[in-house]
Amino acid sequence: MSFEVENKPAKKAPYVPVITLDGPTASGKGTVASRVARILGFHVLDSGLLYRVLALAAQHHGVALTDEQSLEVLAGHLDVQFLVDSRGESQVVLEGEDVSRVLREEKTGMAASQVAVLPQVRTALLNRQIAFRETPGLVADGRDMGTVVFPDAEVKVFITASAEARAGRRHRQLIESGNHASLADLIEDIRQRDVRDIQRAVAPLRPAADAVELDNTLMTVQEAVDAVLALVARNERLVRFLPDQLHP
Ligand code: DC
Repeated sequence: MSFEVENKPAKKAPYVPVITLDGPTASGKGTVASRVARILGFHVLDSGLLYRVLALAAQHHGVALTDEQSLEVLAGHLDVQFLVDSRGESQVVLEGEDVSRVLREEKTGMAASQVAVLPQVRTALLNRQIAFRETPGLVADGRDMGTVVFPDAEVKVFITASAEARAGRRHRQLIESGNHASLADLIEDIRQRDVRDIQRAVAPLRPAADAVELDNTLMTVQEAVDAVLALVARNERLVRFLPDQLHP
């Protein structure tokens, strides 16, 4: 007896392009990432949020920020949803509770940078980050997007600004969102966080070898967005996503 084997060509998954924006805290990468994503119609991944959510979940469950094994388990079971509310504001729901506001607080960022030094935590969060790569494309911001999570990204940008400029921006954001903040404390926190993010052994904050560096200390947000879009325009896989009026 013989069987005819139907030889269908395997369906090829569409290629999903990625733009990575890495840089230190409060460098403006999140704002630039969401504007660029909106213009291109891409998804956006704010990877810092995942570390912040994990730090918060640890605090809810009484897990120490240094307890690598328990944090790894927690990272694998995070019950978290990233939503957009009716006003277009992003909302994060952790275990049924809206934690959007506390997530943005400076103390949560500090706690996030503590759990982020742990290698098993980083590995446990890796697949969650990769899963954001969905068609038509992704703009990902963080510390190691271009070096570790999406090493094959089409465009990689490393965004920096002076610690004073970053503290000034964070200060304005916090005051606008009704939080209390001292500028001097923020500069100190930012310096400490930079040291921890740069000096950690695993996936330290550093530009990928093929990243373009963008110091936006003296730039407006729009100028930084335009600089990223200029890189998009020069990339043959990405240029077709630019709206007509922005085509070179
Ligand atoms: O970008 P952010 O301030 O929300 O990040 C909070 C902390 O999370 C940051 O201090 C270090 C860590 N982080 C990381 O280690 N890797 C990333 N890709 C993103 C954030």
